[in-house]
Amino acid sequence: MTAKSPSFQGLFGCGCVEGAAGEWLRPGDGAIVRELFERSGLRLGAKVLDVGCGAGESLAWLERHGYSGIGVDRDERTLAIAASRVKSALFHGDGARLPFADGCLDAVLSECSLSQMADRPAALGEWCRVLRPGGRLLLADVDWPVDDGRDGLREDVEAAGFAVLVDEDRSDVLVGFVARFIFHYGSLDPLWGERGCAANRRPRYRLLVAERTAEPTGSAHP
Ligand SMILES: C[S@@+](CC[C@H](N)C(=O)[O-])C[C@H]1O[C@@H](n2cnc3c(N)ncnc32)[C@H](O)[C@@H]1O
Repeated sequence: MTAKSPSFQGLFGCGCVEGAAGEWLRPGDGAIVRELFERSGLRLGAKVLDVGCGAGESLAWLERHGYSGIGVDRDERTLAIAASRVKSALFHGDGARLPFADGCLDAVLSECSLSQMADRPAALGEWCRVLRPGGRLLLADVDWPVDDGRDGLREDVEAAGFAVLVDEDRSDVLVGFVARFIFHYGSLDPLWGERGCAANRRPRYRLLVAERTAEPTGSAHP
């Protein structure tokens, strides 16, 4: 297991990122979430928790496509927007400390929320705890390379009790996202916060589907 990963705040850390026309800017514009579900093997009706549900873009998609969505976010402003547009149950709180029983969910979706969490292994352990055996972790997120060349994200996912089924570098979706961000905000500085985006330290965008196999190891709960 790797050491605690420093979270990055930046604009993602303040909730969802708005574009020039007030739209929500998301790498891949939601297509990545659709792809995660297509590759998940989940049945329709599956109970899916969206950790970092923001304004509910993914929850709205889940409702339209026959999944049973639940959302949690620490940002009250975007949660209020989600509440006005989806029927899913919504919770205000920390996505790394969930008010759910062990093994009660079919899937946990995390789109650009894990990278904001101070203790990645603990968050993954908590998500493993609330998933049933065979449940799915659906992850789409930015990921910074570490100096020793190890794949800290994959190591943490596996150490938490998951078997990785799909693991792809989808940095292609960052290109349009970053262009629209700069168009609106003038530079990338407010996006990545302290981590920056130097040429030798460029974030990747990862798409990962994993299955809960083992007993959870790193839950935030005692
Ligand atoms: C890019 S947005 C996600 C967009 C969302 N999936 C959608 O469908 O619109 C990332 C979200 O993660 C939330 N977040 C970050 N850290 C969190 C934490 N520890 N607990 C709960 N939510 C968190 C942020 O407030 C933000 O709304």
